Amino acid sequence: MKAIICDSYGPPSQLKYIEVENPKPAADEVLIQVKACSINFPDTLIIQGLYQFKPEPPFSPGSDVAGIIEAVGENVKGLKPGMEVIALTAYGGLAEKVVVKAKVCFPKPPQFSMVNAAAFMMAYGTSYYALKNRAKLKEGDTLLVLGASGGVGLTAVELGKLMGARVIAAASTPEKLALCKKYGADELINYTEEDLKSRVKQLTNKKGVNVIYDPVGGQYAEPALRAIAWEGRYLVIGFAAGDIPKIPLNLALLKSCQIVGVFWGAFAKKFPMENMQNTMQLITWFGEQKLNPHIHATYPLADAPQALEAMMQRKVSGKIVIEM
Ligand SMILES: NC(=O)c1ccc[n+]([C@@H]2O[C@H](COP(=O)([O-])OP(=O)(O)OC[C@H]3O[C@@H](n4cnc5c(N)ncnc54)[C@H](OP(=O)(O)O)[C@@H]3O)[C@@H](O)[C@H]2O)c1
Repeated sequence: MKAIICDSYGPPSQLKYIEVENPKPAADEVLIQVKACSINFPDTLIIQGLYQFKPEPPFSPGSDVAGIIEAVGENVKGLKPGMEVIALTAYGGLAEKVVVKAKVCFPKPPQFSMVNAAAFMMAYGTSYYALKNRAKLKEGDTLLVLGASGGVGLTAVELGKLMGARVIAAASTPEKLALCKKYGADELINYTEEDLKSRVKQLTNKKGVNVIYDPVGGQYAEPALRAIAWEGRYLVIGFAAGDIPKIPLNLALLKSCQIVGVFWGAFAKKFPMENMQNTMQLITWFGEQKLNPHIHATYPLADAPQALEAMMQRKVSGKIVIEM
């Protein structure tokens, strides 16, 4: 089979598109013929050896896949060859075939295209867990989303509106903000041009926002936290800007607010039933056309390094998907 291979940690330009042996499923695994795999920011870190876990090279990056089951291990029940599935794996998805544990495979709802299915799980799963389980977002809350046009950011805008919040979207360009508006944002802030804290205060009658969704970190985290409301919830999603902010803790005391960590992948592993409930709700909303993944672009497998590069260059809105 053809695969994108990382044979030593480094930038996307170092990845190779080569022929490798087909993987074989163990007793509790399934072999999937991959039809689509979306790119997530962690993929750009994994290939550089900068993520929380470091797979031993050679390996293929890519975690969010949709495809057709080709073979199943002898202990696998309920899944069989020919079934269309969505699966989340740590890596291995940027290949024509991937082996995953049967327990991380879900039947693909027929209303999903392969591209939408690959773009769905991590982005919506993370934002729904963050807003529902961690922030306990309520109807009428004000929600500030940083990096609001990005893969997870745009789903937070969309879900925030669906859950009844007033959504303030912050992003770096007018084009990205226009997309956030299309996805329901009530207010827009260009944080490369406007002062984030004073603009949020202005938009909220000096009260601040109830919930902040932050997948960016870096220089925007502290001004955002300074614009949080009394008893607000600040969701720590990720650090796409590169720097992990060091926050003066007196800010949490002064607003009686919570700084709340969000690690969706670990939640999904530790609490599969709760994650399944969230996933079923998201699939229902998708079926009712209340959710609509934004596909920025699709690329063939051979061009996956360019897709990863575009994400690192901050050039992507919504999701990019690799089609096999
Ligand atoms: N906690 C969890 O469970 C979980 C799950 C999934 C993802 N994440 C994390 O969430 C973050 C976003 O992931 P994603 O897949 O949504 O990525 P993405 O699509 O690339 O979105 C990241 C956004 O961050 C902003 N940004 C600011 N500075 C940047 C920089 N130097 N390089 C790249 N982007 C920059 C960009 O928006 P502007 O240009 O508008 O600023 C971009 O749209 C990552 O840190 C990822 O690891 C966490």
